[in-house]
Amino acid sequence: MDKSVGKAQKSGVKLEKFQTPRGVHDVLPDDHAYFTIIKKVVRHRARQAGYRRISTPVIEYKDVFVRGVGESTDIVEKELYSFSTKEGGDEYALKPEGTAGIVRAYIQHGMGSLPQPVELYYIEPHFRHDRPQKGRYRQFFQFGFEVLGESDPGVDAQIIQLAHLVYSDLGIADRLSLQISTLGCSECREKFINDLRDYYIGKERNLCEDCVRRLQTNPLRLLDCKEEDCKILAENAPKFKSEICDECKDHHQKVLELLDAIDIEYIENDSLVRGLDYYNRTVFEFWDKASGGSSSVGGGGRYDGLVEQLGGAATPACGFAAGMERVVALMREEKLMAPDKDHIDVFVAQLGFEPKKVALQLLTALRSEGVHALGAVGKASMKAQLSKADKFGAPFALILGEVEVREGKVILRDMKSGTQEVIPIGKAVAQILKRISKDRLDTYDPTKELKKDNSVKPEDELLIRD
Ligand code: HAM
Repeated sequence: MDKSVGKAQKSGVKLEKFQTPRGVHDVLPDDHAYFTIIKKVVRHRARQAGYRRISTPVIEYKDVFVRGVGESTDIVEKELYSFSTKEGGDEYALKPEGTAGIVRAYIQHGMGSLPQPVELYYIEPHFRHDRPQKGRYRQFFQFGFEVLGESDPGVDAQIIQLAHLVYSDLGIADRLSLQISTLGCSECREKFINDLRDYYIGKERNLCEDCVRRLQTNPLRLLDCKEEDCKILAENAPKFKSEICDECKDHHQKVLELLDAIDIEYIENDSLVRGLDYYNRTVFEFWDKASGGSSSVGGGGRYDGLVEQLGGAATPACGFAAGMERVVALMREEKLMAPDKDHIDVFVAQLGFEPKKVALQLLTALRSEGVHALGAVGKASMKAQLSKADKFGAPFALILGEVEVREGKVILRDMKSGTQEVIPIGKAVAQILKRISKDRLDTYDPTKELKKDNSVKPEDELLIRD
C-alpha cells in the first residue's frame, strides 16, 4: 500500500473521493462485453461491404465543426466543447460527431484520387455538452459508416441496409422503425425554407423560445421540435416532399424502391430533418418503437455539399452513425446477454517460494496453450486461495506445496465436486486441456499474421504526413 495514503488516513485527513464528471461514465468490464460484440459485428459487416476503418483525432480545429455541422445547429451552438490553445490561441473542439472530421481527412489525405467511392467506418468516442439523462451523455461512443465519391441512390440504400444488418445481428432490429425522408437539394431547400418562413409569420407567439430563434437561423429545425405547441404547428406546415425538384424526387423514389427490393421496411416521415446542417436529399433515423424520435438509436443521410464546403472538390457522400450506449441499452432491455470471454478456467495455488516458482512456470505453460489461468501470487493459506479460486469461478485448481514440488507432483482439484488427484507436474497442462472444452481456449498467434514486406514504409512517413 502507498505509505502516504496510510499516513493521511491515520491523521484523519479525509481524502477526496473522485467521481467521473456529470454525463460521462466508465465503460466497465461488463459493459465491454457488449461493446466487444458490437465492434465485432460492425467490423464484420463493414468488411463484407468493402469498408476500411478510420480514426480521426478527438480534437480538431473548431472550424471543422462550425463549417461542417453548421453554426446554428444545437451541436455547435450549445454542445461543442471548445478551447483555445496556450500558444497561438488556436480554437480547438472535441469532436461531437464523426462525419466532419472524416471529410477533413478525405480532403487532407487526397482520398479523392483513390478509386471512388471511398468507404470508411469508425468506432469512436464523441463529446457533446448535452443535458445528461438516460441515453444522452457527454461522452458517448458511435459506430458509423461513410461513403464518399458516389451520388447513386444505391449507396443510400446500401448504407441503410448495412445499419439494419448490424441492428439485426445484435438482436434489436425488431425494436426499431426506420424513418426516412428527403431534404432535397440546396435549390429546393431554399424555396422550401422561404415557404416555411411565410407559414410561420404571425405564429411566433405560439412557438417556443428556441424555435423563435430558429425561425431566423435554421427554420427546418422547427419541423422536429419536441415542444407540444411547436409540434401542432409543424403538423400543418408545408411538406417538403411536395416541393422538391424532379431530380430530388427521382432520387428519393429510387432509394425507396431499392429498399423495397431488399425487404427493408421504412416509414416515410415528412418532419424528419436531422440536427446537422450538412444533409441534403436522403435523411433517415432508426427509432426505438417504444420511445419514438426522442432518442434515435442511429441516423444519417446524404451530404453531397460537405466536401466542397470544407475546401475539397465537389464530392457526393452519404453516411450513418449509431450511439453504442443506446444499442447496449436496447440489447439489455431485450435480455440479450453479451458473450463474455473473461472466464477463468484454472487457479494455480501455492504454498512457499519454491512452489511459487513452479506455479509461475505452470501458469506460463497453461496460458501459452490458451487456457485462462490465474494465481501464483500472495502468501494466503491454502483454504483462502481455494476460496478465491471459487470466487473467480475457476472449475479447476492446481495446488503446489513444498512436498509436491520435491516429488515433481501437483494436485489437480475439481472445484465443483471437490475431488482431487495427484499427477506429475509435466502432465498437468495436458490433463487440464483434456478437461476444458476447446471453445474456452484463447489461442491467437499474431506471429502467423505478421509478415515481412519490403514495401512497408518507416514509421515517420506513415505517421507524419503533411
Ligand atoms: P446524430 O444523429 O447526431 O448523427 O448521432 C447519431 C447517433 O449518435 C444518435 O442516433 C444517437 O444514437 C447517438 N448520440 C447522439 N448524441 C448522443 C448523446 N449525447 N449520448 C448518447 N448517444 C448519442 C451524427 O452524429 C451524424 N454524424 C451521423 C452521420 C454519419 N450522418 C452522415 N454520416
